[in-house]
Amino acid sequence: MEIKKVGVVGCGIMGGGIAQVCAQSGFQVVVSEVRDDLLKKGLAGIEGNLNRAVEKGRMKAEEKAAVMGRIKGTLETRDFGDCDVVIEAAIERMDLKKKIFADLENVTQKHALLASNTSSMSIIDMAMATKRPDKVLGLHFFNPVPVMRLMEIVRTIATSDETIETAKVFAKAVGKTAVIAKDTAGFIVNRILSSLMMTAVRMYEIGVASKEDIDTAVQLGLNHPMGPLALADLVGIDTCVAIVDTLYDEFKDPQYVTPSGMRDMVTAGYLGRKSGKGFYDYK
Ligand code: 3HC
Repeated sequence: MEIKKVGVVGCGIMGGGIAQVCAQSGFQVVVSEVRDDLLKKGLAGIEGNLNRAVEKGRMKAEEKAAVMGRIKGTLETRDFGDCDVVIEAAIERMDLKKKIFADLENVTQKHALLASNTSSMSIIDMAMATKRPDKVLGLHFFNPVPVMRLMEIVRTIATSDETIETAKVFAKAVGKTAVIAKDTAGFIVNRILSSLMMTAVRMYEIGVASKEDIDTAVQLGLNHPMGPLALADLVGIDTCVAIVDTLYDEFKDPQYVTPSGMRDMVTAGYLGRKSGKGFYDYK
């Protein structure tokens, strides 16, 4: 099956990035939000990224206009009707995701693939909200989507071979290297990342080193582009907590117990870069 038109549910950091990358790769894109102000903010974020690329001489102004021209923002699920794949990038709540998948089942054509960009949740749970679990899979992008080269393709016990083959071709078409993971909590990357990140948070909480020194140590000692606490701020503290909670629910492994300080940060609204404060201050 050939993918020509892509739908993206959610125009936040991840959904906006996915919409941008797909449009830059030549696909027609429909991206939805739940409110007009959120849609405007998301589309402005995409335009801002493209403007930066033009300023840096990586993209021509006409190309930017063409990319924006391929992206249609909407508040209506029915606008996904002629998409060949729809990628859900909404907040990490299973009840909401199941509802989105059930709605997509109703409005999309039978051949369309339905994918989730969830960072850790069960894809088969979402698949069973549809009548086509063979066409449901995870397409997991990484933040910032335009920069990160990986896509995890998540296969459930019900996903068909044809769906996986189509996903591989799609990953290549949007410039990502695909890896295939089984439908287990956190897939490959977030299962590994969470161990590292939660260890770093606990070390910070018990005073093994300052947050700056923990981050510098990992950056320079392991050659990571950024330290784990700065990365938690980039990913979003609320998202990190949601991932670790999902991992604990599935594996009951104490390394995936969320440090209480992180839960306090979520309660206080210290969500990382997106709220202006996390482990670090961004104001
Ligand atoms: N959108 C688009 N492009 C961006 C960007 C963004 N949000 N942030 C940075 N960039 C681009 C810049 O334009 C720049 O491009 P150029 O070299 O062509 O000019 C390039 O990335 C480098 O950016 P900067 O010079 O501003 O900054 P750095 O060199 O410090 O890189 C970084 C920033 C790319 C964020 C880098 O620090 C990095 O790779 N960090 C690790 C990110 C990571 O691990 N992500 C995965 C998180 S886990 C995940 O996403 C899973 C999910 O389920 C939670």
